[in-house]
Amino acid sequence: MAPGQTLLETDTEATLVSVLEAAFAEIDTARCDAIIASGDLAHLATEAVYRRFHSLITQFFNGPLLCLPGNHDVLSAMQAAGLPMQSIVWPDWQLAALDSHEDDKPKSLITEIDRQALSEAVAGTQSRHILLATHHPLVEVHCPWLDRDRIVGPLELLNWLNQQSGERLRGVVFGHTHQEVEAKVGCWPVFGVPSTCFQFQPQSSRFALDDLAPGYQWLELQHDGEITRTVRRVN
Ligand SMILES: [Fe+2]
Repeated sequence: MAPGQTLLETDTEATLVSVLEAAFAEIDTARCDAIIASGDLAHLATEAVYRRFHSLITQFFNGPLLCLPGNHDVLSAMQAAGLPMQSIVWPDWQLAALDSHEDDKPKSLITEIDRQALSEAVAGTQSRHILLATHHPLVEVHCPWLDRDRIVGPLELLNWLNQQSGERLRGVVFGHTHQEVEAKVGCWPVFGVPSTCFQFQPQSSRFALDDLAPGYQWLELQHDGEITRTVRRVN
């Protein structure tokens, strides 16, 4: 939001700061290899808001950042603000980004252009393992009002990516659901992360907030391709 404005009575900048403070009080920044910001980075999607977001992150962490566009985001404003949206590549692992959004529409939309970009991002790399990051969920979270916007045909998508990448896909992370999710699509683990602001009520047939605190997750990407996930919440 604009400075000082709240959303659903939440100061979303203050809750993001509380998440960053908690995360980097837990570990040294040198032990964090990257941050994935899994979309809906702004509600009021202006370049100025994205610049504030980026500058806030860099006050805590100056390493690689992967920003994904969510349904509340506007891609051109994210680009204008210079947010990094490219895959991150290490020798062991690649964080590959998939754009599942359409500006200001809730439903997931993966176009041929989005698939082509993902295919090119994994084709040119030698990392042993790939973690896919996207905004929309690949599984039902049993909230019908959220489930209708999930990615259609997730198993076909992951099989396709696995084939494109020479069978290097190891798992997926997503945002959007404002709640902790752990499930599988085929053989792949998929993880939904809590929101840095308010949380949505699990198993709710319509929009409802949960009273859980803002949260985040640590992903430990092991040398053998395993992914260990730990969810944390602020006090
Ligand atoms: Fe979303």
